[in-house]
Amino acid sequence: MSKLYMVGVGPGSEDYLTFKAKKIADSVEILIGSRRALELFPETSGEKIELDPKNMENGFKHAVFEVRKGKSVALLSTGDPGFSGILKPVLDMSGTVEVEVVPGISSIQLCAAKLKIPWDDVNLITLHGKGVSSGLLEVLENGKPTMILPNFSVKEIAEFLLNNGVDPRREVAICEKLSYPDERIVKTVLKDVLNENFSYMCVMVIF
Ligand SMILES: C[S@@+](CC[C@H](N)C(=O)[O-])C[C@H]1O[C@@H](n2cnc3c(N)ncnc32)[C@H](O)[C@@H]1O
Repeated sequence: MSKLYMVGVGPGSEDYLTFKAKKIADSVEILIGSRRALELFPETSGEKIELDPKNMENGFKHAVFEVRKGKSVALLSTGDPGFSGILKPVLDMSGTVEVEVVPGISSIQLCAAKLKIPWDDVNLITLHGKGVSSGLLEVLENGKPTMILPNFSVKEIAEFLLNNGVDPRREVAICEKLSYPDERIVKTVLKDVLNENFSYMCVMVIF
């Protein structure tokens, strides 16, 4: 049956992939996703199409086009499609095609679990595609932990906050490459973030 599935595949390791995501990946005719998302499904028989990170929109359009032709397609999203993911842009262009959203474990959820933070009482922020702005300074004042997906780098956030008068000794945690064998959790203070190198794949928490 022609349908567009938006499937969350979790933070990266197969350990955090849901049974439902696997079932759908096994059943569809076409799987579209980033290389790291596709690698989670080495044994599926459907056609696999890798998303170009520089032009994701093309991949999304192709997915909708194939569903309109009668195919079943799964568009894979790392983490959960609804948090800083593919849900909004794809819904905006999917028109009348039938869509089903399959939740995945977000990097935010795994970060909260690793740091033992109840995430019903945090500030949740994504800077993806936006960059840092003064809105962040206001949010930091409400006394809750602030969980941030950086635009590209955590250093950019630390520099911005330090330049705008945030206490250099403010506690932060950086959860890098969650669920991968080289996962790293660094608990430090704001000023020391500038002295370390981190991958783009991080969740930053400011306490
Ligand atoms: C486009 S956003 C997608 C977020 C995704 N929808 C989610 O729910 O986790 C990609 C960003 O999520 C974060 N991220 C994704 N996977 C991660 C992981 N395994 N460890 C740490 N951060 C991760 C990084 O900040 C990365 O740049």
